Amino acid sequence: MARIILAVDPYGDIGIDEIIARINMVKEYIAGVKIGLPLLIRFGLPGVKKIIDLARDTEHVILDFKLADIAPVMISTIEPFVGTGANEVIAHAFIGLDGALKEFKEYIDSYGLKLILVVSMSHPGSTDIMEHVLDKIINVVEKLEPYGIVVPATRPHIIQNVKKKLLSKNIDVKIYSPGIGVQGAKPGSALKAGADYEIIGRSILYSPNPLEAASLIARIHDELVRRR
Ligand code: XMP
Repeated sequence: MARIILAVDPYGDIGIDEIIARINMVKEYIAGVKIGLPLLIRFGLPGVKKIIDLARDTEHVILDFKLADIAPVMISTIEPFVGTGANEVIAHAFIGLDGALKEFKEYIDSYGLKLILVVSMSHPGSTDIMEHVLDKIINVVEKLEPYGIVVPATRPHIIQNVKKKLLSKNIDVKIYSPGIGVQGAKPGSALKAGADYEIIGRSILYSPNPLEAASLIARIHDELVRRR
C-alpha cells in the first residue's frame, strides 16, 4: 500500500503538461495527490481539474487551499470542486468551530468530501504560536472528529503525542505528514512516528529523476510498514 501523498505545487514557469508527465512517471508509487494554491493560481480551474482527472484512480485526491476563513467563504471556495473527483479537503484547525469549521464540515460531509485539519506545521515558525496552543487545537479535532490531520514530519514527537492523545479518546484519524526531504525530515521518519502518509512535493516532483526518487522512498516505506 502506497504511503506517498504527492504535493503538486508548481514553481517557476513549469507548464501543466510537464506536471502531468511527472505525475504519470510516479503514479504507481503514490497513494494520492495534494493540490495546492500555486497550481490553482497558475492554471485555474481547468488545470486543477486535469490533475484531479489524472489522480482520480488514486485513493486520495486532496484539495489544499489553506482554508482558514468564515464558513461561507470556505464553502464558496470548495463549491466548484464538488463532483469533480476530489475527495478530501484541508483546512486549518486553529480557526475553531462555530461560524467556521462546524458549518464547513456539515457542507462537505453532505457531498461526501472528507475533512483534514492542520494541527501543527512543519516550518520553524510553527513553534512561535501554533505549538503553544497545540492542546487547544487538539480540542477542535476531538470535537469535530475529521477524517485526517496534518502533523509535521519535522517534529516526530508531536506526531507521537497527538496520536496517543487522540487514540486515548478513541478518536482514530489518518495522519498526513509534510516536511520530508527539502524541509529536512528523512523519508520514513513520519511513518516511524505513527503517521499514515508522508506528503512529499519538491523532492519527488522536482527531482532530476522523479521515478527514481519516488521508487526509493516507496521502498523505504514498504520496508517500514512490513516491520511494523
Ligand atoms: P515539499 O516540497 O516541502 O512540500 O515536500 C510539502 C507540501 O506540504 C505542504 N506543507 C504543509 N501543509 N501544514 C500543511 O498543511 C504544514 O505544516 C505543511 N508543511 C508543508 C506544502 O504546502 C507543500 O504542499
